[in-house]
Order: sequence, then structure tokens, then C-alpha cells
Amino acid sequence: MAVHVVDSIDLQLARDIERDPFEAFDAHIDMDPFWAKEGDFYDGGFWVIGKFDQCRELLQDAETFQSEVFTEEPLLPSFAQPPELQKLRQVLLPHLSRRKTVGAEDRVRELANHYIDAFAAAGSCDLVADFAQHFPIAVFAELYGIANDKRAEFRQLAEKYLHSVGAERDSAWESIRAIVRGELQERRGNPRGDLLSGIANGEIDGAPIEMAICVNLAATVFLGGLDTLPSALGWTFRYLATHEDARRRVREQPETVPAMVEEFLRLYPVVAKERRRLSRDVDFHGVPMKAGDRVVALLSLANRDEVEFPNARTADFDRTVNRHITFGVGPHRCLGSHLARSELTIALQEWHRRIPDYRISDPSKIRFHGGIIAMSTLPLEWATAT
Ligand code: HEM
Repeated sequence: MAVHVVDSIDLQLARDIERDPFEAFDAHIDMDPFWAKEGDFYDGGFWVIGKFDQCRELLQDAETFQSEVFTEEPLLPSFAQPPELQKLRQVLLPHLSRRKTVGAEDRVRELANHYIDAFAAAGSCDLVADFAQHFPIAVFAELYGIANDKRAEFRQLAEKYLHSVGAERDSAWESIRAIVRGELQERRGNPRGDLLSGIANGEIDGAPIEMAICVNLAATVFLGGLDTLPSALGWTFRYLATHEDARRRVREQPETVPAMVEEFLRLYPVVAKERRRLSRDVDFHGVPMKAGDRVVALLSLANRDEVEFPNARTADFDRTVNRHITFGVGPHRCLGSHLARSELTIALQEWHRRIPDYRISDPSKIRFHGGIIAMSTLPLEWATAT
């Protein structure tokens, strides 16, 4: 097959862009694997894959398409290879299981209401700044096991990390790692039943895990949930604020919210791309790829592939099959998916119980940014009882 080549592709996207990034990616929909000569990730070019089946195939083959370390401290398990990968995941899995998440539901509901209390009577809020960026961090601080007296500091650092760039962001990240290291050290030999205790007292091949690895594991789990959930909440509420029928469905059929959440996750995969590097030469669907080549799987296109999802660009809350790959697929599949689904479901149910109807007060203010695909603000307003 002749290789299609594009000169340049912008996948990282700047801040404060006016165009919906998912629509920008759609320009490459239905394309066979192609080579981008330039882009924002790699000097010397890289392959771009956007079809559903092909993205699944490459993500499932972690030995051929390997994760690549591109930070100073390796994010673990993200940058690990089999068989270490599975061993590291085993340490985290029991603490992020569906059973654990179900057990935490009542407390997650309380936390959602705590934040809604702050603005429900006011008749307006910025969904991003007033809710989406607080609620998931608060839930996570509890699950993680950050002590009560340190939660405020931890939340402030997490929010500083989210809102800042450059040196300020680096310094917030270093402070977060320092807190995490201290908390892990306190729990070594003294477990408290939380996620950090599980990591600090975890074993690999019958031996305690090195503290440096514990810190990298704990930091990655923290990072995994930090930007993703706030962004997913933003996209979900933007859709709901502009679709009366969907708001009614949440209110009148709250039991269908989990299926709605799946469809929002499919349409808005906030981690829109995954990067890999080839460990060997392969013929990938007629395209010759070489060991060392870099590859980007565009999850956002895969989730909008008409072959897998008829009427793919439309939200269909009654889809009977919805195998979206928003959480990835294969050996590196997201470990936080149960928590993410639970938080999104609870946020929708509680919000609509308290604030049944609302709209975007000033759509012209909405700006988007790349990395984790998000919007910087979502101003909402609603009628209040007078
Ligand atoms: C809507 C929310 C979320 C989305 C869309 C999302 C998406 C993803 C994706 C696409 C991957 C990479 C899969 C791959 O490399 O093939 C991933 C990995 C990961 N996520 Fe999430 N995630 C979300 C929430 C969370 C949360 C809440 C946590 C933590 C509690 C978390 C923890 C992780 C971890 C630890 C990994 C690394 C897994 C590995 O490499 O083995 N994620 N996530």
C-alpha cells in the first residue's frame, strides 16, 4: 500500500483555542495509517492511526508497540513493559477495583453535594472552576489516604498544578511528590487500608517495593485522575446544558445515567491520543513500519469510527454495543476507570436532583485546550426559587 504522508499535524493543540478540538481531529477520520513528517511530539515524523480496530490492535500488542519514557521520573506502570507491568498493576488493582468504588459511593455522593451546596442557591457557577476541578480531587484525596489535616494543602497543590504552567507547575509537582513520599514512608509497616498503604506495603516477587518505585506508582495514579475527570465533567455538562431532552432523561430516568456516561465517554475521550514506539519491524495493515518508529493512536477518531459505531458523531444513549476505547485497551488499560465512571454517574445524578435545568450563560466565553482535551470555563446559569 502506498504510504500517505502529511507535512504536519497538530495533535497537542494550544491553549485558548476557539474550535472544538474533537472536531479538529475529525479532519483525519477514515484515514488508513499515515505518516506525519512534522508534529508536536516527535522530530523526524511519526505514524498516526485512527481506525477503531487498528487502534485496538496496536494498544493490545504492548511488546511491539511499547510505551516510551518521556519524563525524568518514569511514570509507573505507564512506562513499564511486561512482565513488570503486570506485577506493578497487581499492586494497584485491589485499591481501584469496582468493589472498592461501590463501597465509596455514599461518601462520593456527600462530596458532590458539598460542592453543589456552595452555588446551588446562587443561580450560576462556572462548572469547571467551581465544581469539576474540586470534586474529583476531594474524592481522590480520601481514597488515596491523604490525612485530614493535609488535605487542604494537597488540594491547593493539585489545583496549582492544574492551573499553572512552567516553573510554577514543576514546583507544585515536586511538592506533591514530596507529600506523597512522606505519606508512603509513614505507612511502611503501618498500613491504614488506603491506596497509599497498599503501595507502601506492596510486594513484587515476595520482596518489598523500592521506595523510589512506590513514589512513581503513587504519583502516576494521582496524575491519572487529576486532569481527566475535570475535563470529562466539562464535556458532559456542556452537552447536557445544550440538550433539553438529555437533561430530562437524567432527571426522569436516573437509572440510565451509567449508559449515558458511557456515551459521553465515547464521544469525548479526553485522553485523545496514546504514543508508542515500535520494538521491531512490522507490516501493519499493508504499511511497512520499522523498529524505532513512533506511533500515535488517536483514540478520539477510533471512538468515532462509523464501522464500529453507527451514527458515530451523534450521542445515542441507547447504544446496545459501546466498546469505546476512552480508557485505552490491553495491558495498559486505565486503572481508574471504575472510579471515573462512578464519579461521573454520581455527579450527574446529584447535580440534576439539585439543579434540574440550566443553560450556558455566555457560550462565547468557552475556550478549549489540548494535552488532556478540556475547556477552560463553562459558565452555567439556572432559575432559583425566590
Ligand atoms: C475520564 C477519566 C479518565 C480517562 C479518560 C482515562 C484514560 C486513560 C488512558 C487512555 C490511559 C492509557 C491507556 C494506555 O496507555 O493504553 C490511562 C491510564 C491510566 N489511568 Fe486513566 N483515565 C481516567 C481516569 C483515571 C483515574 C480517576 C485514575 C486514578 C484513580 C486513573 C489512573 C490511570 C493509571 C494509573 C493509568 C496507567 C495504567 C498503565 O499504564 O498500566 N485514570 N487512563
